[in-house]
Amino acid sequence: MQNLYALSYLVSAVLFILSLRGLSSPVSARAGNVYGMVGMALAGVTTLFVASSPVLWLIGIAIAAGAAIGAWKAKTVAMTAMPELVAAMHSLVGLAAVLIAVAAIYHTGQSHTQVQKIELFLGAFIGAITFTASIVAWGKLSGRFASKPVRFAGQHVFNLVVFLAMLGFGGAYFVTDSHSAFLMMLVLALLLGVMVIVPIGGADMPVVVSMLNSYSGWAAAGIGFTLDNSVLIIAGACVGSSGAILSYIMCRAMNRSLVSVLLGGFGAAEGTAAGGDGAARNYKSGSPEDAAFLMSNAESVVIVPGYGLAVSRAQHALQELTTMLEEHGVKVRYAIHPVAGRMPGHMNVLLAEAEVPYDKVLEMEEINSEFSTTDVVLVIGANDVVNPAAKNDSASPIYGMPILDAYKARTVLVVKRSMSVGYAGLDNDLFYMDKTMMVFGDAKKVVEDMLHAI
Ligand code: TAP
Repeated sequence: MQNLYALSYLVSAVLFILSLRGLSSPVSARAGNVYGMVGMALAGVTTLFVASSPVLWLIGIAIAAGAAIGAWKAKTVAMTAMPELVAAMHSLVGLAAVLIAVAAIYHTGQSHTQVQKIELFLGAFIGAITFTASIVAWGKLSGRFASKPVRFAGQHVFNLVVFLAMLGFGGAYFVTDSHSAFLMMLVLALLLGVMVIVPIGGADMPVVVSMLNSYSGWAAAGIGFTLDNSVLIIAGACVGSSGAILSYIMCRAMNRSLVSVLLGGFGAAEGTAAGGDGAARNYKSGSPEDAAFLMSNAESVVIVPGYGLAVSRAQHALQELTTMLEEHGVKVRYAIHPVAGRMPGHMNVLLAEAEVPYDKVLEMEEINSEFSTTDVVLVIGANDVVNPAAKNDSASPIYGMPILDAYKARTVLVVKRSMSVGYAGLDNDLFYMDKTMMVFGDAKKVVEDMLHAI
């Protein structure tokens, strides 16, 4: 029987790996989700058999409650609120790791080897940090807490002292088996979770959420060793490593180092007006009808979607516009920046929802060389990801960040509501170029007007 359980866990682990593989491309993402769900169901059922005397009614209530809340949230969450939902979910993974560790410590008649104690210690403290840090991240992202970085003199020294004290109590538990030492270690880890996140500004939160995702995975893996549960170890390691890799990819796309994100600061200027020296600058603006005329007479149009597309939920109208332009013989494609929007794959998800064919959706590396031969670029609700300052202005905070080279196209149309700044809080030279026409308004309304005009 034991072999059958081991085999079942192995199959779940393989399904988790296939799930990650599937999720790495929009084309296979749906299949990836299915693999993940089947793997999770198999792992859950197997665990019921492996456990010595499971209290089925209690587990049933927990599963039913979790499934109901999860289904309700998934149905109702707005696409723009996704990052904070993810942060809230990570807090639960951290909490689960802490509770399992506490249960294991207090489990009567169960003594732990030295190695198990180290695993419990690691799982519990990483889980505790993940728990409180994720709650603060959720609060900052959802606007319940101020997203401004919180700093005070001696902050790093304070954090170091708390960290060392936490290790000290962990050591005391290791040597003496004292439960109170373990609990003190947990309390300090919970405090540390808050302390590490408060100096980080709102703009860096998505990277931090991805890091917390990684921590929660490692916490689960640590607990998996204690429980001698192979699927928890493998799934935890998958989450831990994929979260770390994703954080790295996001940092690279924003030209930030992980260390600078974790030490905080970049989000400090968020929301304050930028605009260089503050002098008024000239720009051209036109109507949706003007823009429609330019696009329908072009040979090629590249659409650059950004966060504003998610805000206005304009993706379906945009897909209709694409179809209509194609009926006029225009070649239309989409250009996706890796950090467009507020979470990885944000734009891909929106466009997939509107059933935009995948072969029309190109990544930055695939499309950048083609902007110079493109007639019209339609920038819709995007700002930072097309800001030429990242290339031309070495004094700009985003200097070095890779961008979509929209400024190289013959004509640039920019749809947004005003001249105000994007996430990085910076003015955008693209909006003031001779070849650029601003089309002001909510993205969905503007696209609908374009459709009528065509
Ligand atoms: P942003 O630079 O934030 O610009 C979005 C623009 O959309 C704004 O300038 C806004 O201008 C416009 N907008 C908002 N609501 C709109 C609506 N209803 N209709 C039309 N326009 C609307 O977005 P981006 O170009 O997608 O760049 C993403 C930014 O987020 C980058 O700075 C990136 O580093 C950062 N970030 C992204 C991630 C990930 S993983 N995606 C993670 C961390 C940080 P108006 O207010 O004038 O309309």
